[in-house]
Amino acid sequence: MTAEPVSGSAARRVVAITGAGGALGAAVSGQLAGEPGTDVVLSDVSEAALEATVAGLPAARGAVETALADVSDFAQVAAVIELAVERFGRLDVLVSNAGVLSPNGRIHNLDTEDWERAFRINVLGAVHGIRAAVPVMRRQGSGSIVLTASVAGLTAWSHAAPYCATKAAVIQLAKVGAVEYARDGIRVNCVCPGTFLSAIHADLPPEALDPIAARHPLGLGAAADLVGAYSYLASDASRWTTGSAMVVDGGYSAP
Ligand SMILES: NC(=O)c1ccc[n+]([C@@H]2O[C@H](COP(=O)([O-])OP(=O)(O)OC[C@H]3O[C@@H](n4cnc5c(N)ncnc54)[C@H](O)[C@@H]3O)[C@@H](O)[C@H]2O)c1
Repeated sequence: MTAEPVSGSAARRVVAITGAGGALGAAVSGQLAGEPGTDVVLSDVSEAALEATVAGLPAARGAVETALADVSDFAQVAAVIELAVERFGRLDVLVSNAGVLSPNGRIHNLDTEDWERAFRINVLGAVHGIRAAVPVMRRQGSGSIVLTASVAGLTAWSHAAPYCATKAAVIQLAKVGAVEYARDGIRVNCVCPGTFLSAIHADLPPEALDPIAARHPLGLGAAADLVGAYSYLASDASRWTTGSAMVVDGGYSAP
């Protein structure tokens, strides 16, 4: 889907994306960077992953800035947003996408550290993005924030309680953010992907994906299957959509 940029006083749209080095982050980066009138700030905690994303961007695109940032550290996320403002003068869209899967295990077998890591990256990472972006967007009187949640935040996945709990929190964060910032002209939505292949599954036993695949009527997805949702939520086409948990899951949550 190709969408028109979010309207504002500027002729160009400025988009910042966290977790831009991963499978979904790279796909969304490629999509949004290639849309008309768009400049992007791409960030990730992994330099190599970020470089790979930049190398894969479409040739026909606007300006690109990159920044290494760990989303669990507010100062690093704030620096990404500051880079957008310094370089491009505004921030129209934040895609808060960085996330990690928790170790495979039932609730009583997971350490406090496993829970803390999931919350620090998946939940606080999104909180930090909102905290950093909102002051800029409030000054502009416009903005769209898109969080990456998961159908795991809507349905129960055995052996993945921290992941499910953190993604449920991300969904709720989008809803509360939508209510809090609507009057400031800021929309907050999240995307709830079903399972698509990426490095996030690298630590799972090989057989773990089989039952998950079987529960997707359309089969497992690919990152490219998600980009239309991000394109829509980042654009003015979704101007009356806020607080939405947009499910794109190959039918996983339908039954
Ligand atoms: N793959 C799936 O099936 C699936 C399903 C639903 C939701 N998601 C969500 O999609 C998002 C992207 O995941 P993906 O599948 O592309 O995985 P991925 O592992 O390919 O990408 C995740 C990216 O986040 C980065 N990252 C990890 N910790 C970070 C941190 N502390 N600070 C900044 N960046 C950090 C990684 O370096 C990586 O580039 C995640 O939020 C994930 O939870 C994935």
